Amino acid sequence: MTILGIETSCDDTSAAVVSNGTNVLSNVVSSQIKIHKKYGGIVPELASRQHLENINFVIEKAIRDAGCKIQNINAVAVTVGPGLIGSLLVGTTTAQAISNIMKIPVAGINHIEGHIFANFLQPQRTQRKTTENTEKVTPPFVALIVSGGHTDLLMVKNWGNYKILGRTRDDAVGEVFDKIAKFLGLDYPGGPIIDKLAKKGDNKKINFPRPYMPDSWDFSFSGLKTAVINYVNSKHLLAQPPTEVGGYNHSIADLCASFQQSCADVLVRKTVLACEKFNIKKIILGGGVSANSRLRCDFIKKCDEENIKLFMPAAIFCTDNAAMIASAGYFKLKKIARCMAINPSANLELKSWNRGDAEEKGEKVKEK
Ligand code: KG4
Ligand code: ZN
Repeated sequence: MTILGIETSCDDTSAAVVSNGTNVLSNVVSSQIKIHKKYGGIVPELASRQHLENINFVIEKAIRDAGCKIQNINAVAVTVGPGLIGSLLVGTTTAQAISNIMKIPVAGINHIEGHIFANFLQPQRTQRKTTENTEKVTPPFVALIVSGGHTDLLMVKNWGNYKILGRTRDDAVGEVFDKIAKFLGLDYPGGPIIDKLAKKGDNKKINFPRPYMPDSWDFSFSGLKTAVINYVNSKHLLAQPPTEVGGYNHSIADLCASFQQSCADVLVRKTVLACEKFNIKKIILGGGVSANSRLRCDFIKKCDEENIKLFMPAAIFCTDNAAMIASAGYFKLKKIARCMAINPSANLELKSWNRGDAEEKGEKVKEK
């Protein structure tokens, strides 16, 4: 089954063609970073306008890159939330129009489950790295989704069967990376820049707090953010002259490394504890922050020690992309076997799949 995925929940307009839920035939991502950069964050009104301008071109390119025609597409999968409502609407109305015109089923996908399914994607051969895991992921597993909007710890007992164990009570971890970067005068998005600067710093230099929240599976990173900002102010770090470390001084590199280590310690420990508690021997990661090099290294090391199988998406599928939405759509359509209602919702909760989700009048999905 060949699925066209569409993702417009935030600031990336993306379309992808994926066959059988795993084989990525194309994945086009049109980033709006240049537009939002000068504001230090996403401006919702600008994002939706830009999606409108990009969407047709991006879909056409995805189909062309996949070497197919719209007639070869068997179903459409689109993000229905959570996200910016104006942005979501551009994707959902486009997906619905394609579904109506081509008379093919459409599946509404939660963005978080998209990040989970990023682990099923096989990049095109030319983009593969030898270290990437090509083994098949099967539930049950513990999933950690860490991005600019989410920090969710989940148990996935079976396909589409989700139990949220914990989530952030304040800032998402990626949001904290972005806010600290903005405070330091670094570019947007801050995560990859902090990651890069941290490689030149000492991660033991500053002992920032580790917000473990031991009595809960929830997370809280805003206190850590305040600790970092207070440290910078108390040591007058921003007043120090830049040196050779990417134009920044060594203290900033140490700060980035120490902050990043604090995040990684908390995320790794809580995820591994969840495995122990629920007797699960598999972890999957997803979301933009799962591209973080420190986090990936620490997860590999800890999972090795604890004999836990670890799955991480290829770097290109950690951040927002439509291939992950197409993959989730394939598995969801296979299970529910009917077209679904696609009502966008900014605060969409992650719900388990059941056949009741299917629209009664929906078209039956044919396996091709
Ligand atoms: O998944 P994503 O593309 O969008 C959301 O669903 O939010 O994640 C974007 C987030 C941003 O906060 C960005 O700073 C962060 O992922 N990010 C990183 C890295 N690459 C992206 N954070 C830390 N280290 C990275 N290498
Ligand atoms: Zn995302």
